[in-house]
Amino acid sequence: MPDPKQQIADLRDRLNEADRLYRLGQATGMSDIEFDHALKGLEQLEAEHPGLVTPDSPTQRVGGQPIEGFETKPHSSPMLSIDNTYNEEELNSWYTRTCKLAEVDQVELVMEPKVDGVALALRYEQGQLVQALTRGDGTKGDDITHNIRTVRHIPLTLKGEHIPEILEVRGEIYLPQDVFDRVNAKKIEAGEDPFMNPRNTTAGTLKQKDPAKVIRGLQFVAYGKGEISNDTTYATHSGFVATIKQLGLPVHEHEAIVESADQAWRWIQGFDQLRHNLPFATDGVVIKTNDYNLQDQLGVTSKAPRWCIAYKFAAEQARTKLLEVNWQVGKTGKLTPRATMQPTLLAGTTVSHATLHNFGEVLRKDIRLNDTVVIEKAGEIIPQVVEVVTDVRDVSELPIAAPDKCPECGTPVEIEYDTKRINELAVYERAVEREKAKAEKEERQPEAIDKPAAINPLDETARYCPNPECPAQFRERMAHFVGRNQMDIDALGEKTIHQLADAGLLQNLGDIYRLKDKREQLLELDRMGEKKVDNLIEGVEQSKQRGLLRVLAGLTIRHIGQGGAKRLAQHFGDIDALIVADEETIAAIEDVGPITAASVRQFLDNPAGQHVIAELKAAGVDLTEEKIEVAADSPFAGKTIVITGTLENYQRNDLKKILEGLGAKISGSISKNTDLLIAGEKAGSKLTKAQGLGVQVWDEAKLLATLPS
Ligand code: IVH
Repeated sequence: MPDPKQQIADLRDRLNEADRLYRLGQATGMSDIEFDHALKGLEQLEAEHPGLVTPDSPTQRVGGQPIEGFETKPHSSPMLSIDNTYNEEELNSWYTRTCKLAEVDQVELVMEPKVDGVALALRYEQGQLVQALTRGDGTKGDDITHNIRTVRHIPLTLKGEHIPEILEVRGEIYLPQDVFDRVNAKKIEAGEDPFMNPRNTTAGTLKQKDPAKVIRGLQFVAYGKGEISNDTTYATHSGFVATIKQLGLPVHEHEAIVESADQAWRWIQGFDQLRHNLPFATDGVVIKTNDYNLQDQLGVTSKAPRWCIAYKFAAEQARTKLLEVNWQVGKTGKLTPRATMQPTLLAGTTVSHATLHNFGEVLRKDIRLNDTVVIEKAGEIIPQVVEVVTDVRDVSELPIAAPDKCPECGTPVEIEYDTKRINELAVYERAVEREKAKAEKEERQPEAIDKPAAINPLDETARYCPNPECPAQFRERMAHFVGRNQMDIDALGEKTIHQLADAGLLQNLGDIYRLKDKREQLLELDRMGEKKVDNLIEGVEQSKQRGLLRVLAGLTIRHIGQGGAKRLAQHFGDIDALIVADEETIAAIEDVGPITAASVRQFLDNPAGQHVIAELKAAGVDLTEEKIEVAADSPFAGKTIVITGTLENYQRNDLKKILEGLGAKISGSISKNTDLLIAGEKAGSKLTKAQGLGVQVWDEAKLLATLPS
């Protein structure tokens, strides 16, 4: 009898080795059929000997139970975006600026392809994959570990020596073009609608609740670091990448180190030639300063690091025919023209729709039905019409009509014009008045003042349906209210909202919370089983606990998004305090301002707004927000602090959070506005710079003594 322990170990090693070679893009020595066969065998043996299953077993990739919903988890440090450049000049000026900030003549740069996929943070503890988070909003992302475990291209276990206890790598997960094409061919064969493009497909499949349904063949490339224990070993980005490659993580093959803007530009041009033959979609090149100390010194802005920049290749364009225009009603009542075009291939995907933004845009570009148009995808998913090809016009082109009534509810529309133009005219009229008065006083003829052109149809910037009860607007507002970042009622998807609204069960936001009394009516609807109804009611009940921030963000108050909602919720703590606040008080809140304050007041004073709030209150929705208390006597309150060097008692990120909780702003770089530098061991250029600028410096001991215990 063969020893099952040995058999399992052998199979596991063979399969893992095949996976490793697969990640390296090398021959695995095993056909797909052989691989599946061996995997089945291993599954069977493990089922017979459950005690012998190890976390790194390849069977652990495919197992896994479907999950209920996604858990959102914080990132160890923000996952930022990158600023873009579009030409050589912009690239040069970034390089010059970087050298200047770094006070050097030359910096070493790493050039990497910019893969167009989905950003991912992978966390390994003791060499085992323990967590995979999406980028989310940059500070927190969705835990999709269950799905990532199915991706063969991502190792479950790191290889080699010197594996850090904690290693978080960041990178991009993507669907190679050939896999995408194969998946789509199958879909078409099965009579289903094909997927839009590889990136959407990747994002979509990673949000599967059942790991068994995740599309096979996803690939990953690591290009950055998150939290790492003893993070002092790496001096350069290229060094870090080489190390994680040794640990078995896939990294870019096409990367290079250059030493001037000129070399960078030449590399970009070379890469542009070969990128179309790569198996993945790239829309640019990412350029990073190689030296980590320098990265630290350059720091980050609120959005993106200063130490890196993306060069974006010009968007691809295509020509097609514009066939039809429909007007769509958004949640604020805005009517957006959407063009249907002859399907055409653009940047690897078939497109048949483009946004025309607003009627003014249609007039300014003189876009007509049946026109041949140039379309372009500028980073966005929805293509834009760049221009009309006028020299191929014949007599078949027809003007596009703008609706004067809402296509959904028939209310006459309101038109908005470019505020800049309106202001210009107002300024002119005031100047004329003033000149007239002055001339009268001086007993002379008033001088002529150049009159700006009158407002005309080309100045139109938006068309609105002003009816707050418009069913289309209502459905959009409802969809927003229950959306993931607002009340997060998963079971109320767009289709269900339509269905319930049509059945008369959802006529205002308050109706959501009355659904639990309408169980019988819900059960009578199509595709509404017991389980679905229970889910829906349960989801609605849970949503009551989300708190004021999410409610405010969900109410579609003009100028109030997540940021504004946060400021209001934090400042007032509960809805009643907000309701009684006057406009000046609201406008005086940091980063709020008069326009937002007026819009908030308008919502609160409007009977419809008051009604919604009363209904939410009556339903027991939590309209309070826990305030993040900042001790008034905190020595850190309002201070701008920079942290550098290695600290013995704190992870940098934890310390950052503690200090922020005490009212400090943490910045990545020293300037004359820095109040305090906290310098640990091996503090480098930041310390020198702080001393030069006379910025106060504390060591760790002083920090420990000052922090409240
Ligand atoms: S570095 C702080 N390197 O591009 C910046 N990002 O537009 C850390 N991306 O969110 C990212 N290829 O998802 C980096 N070689 C590369 C990349 C890359 C693609 C993505 C990434 C980022 C986005 C920004």
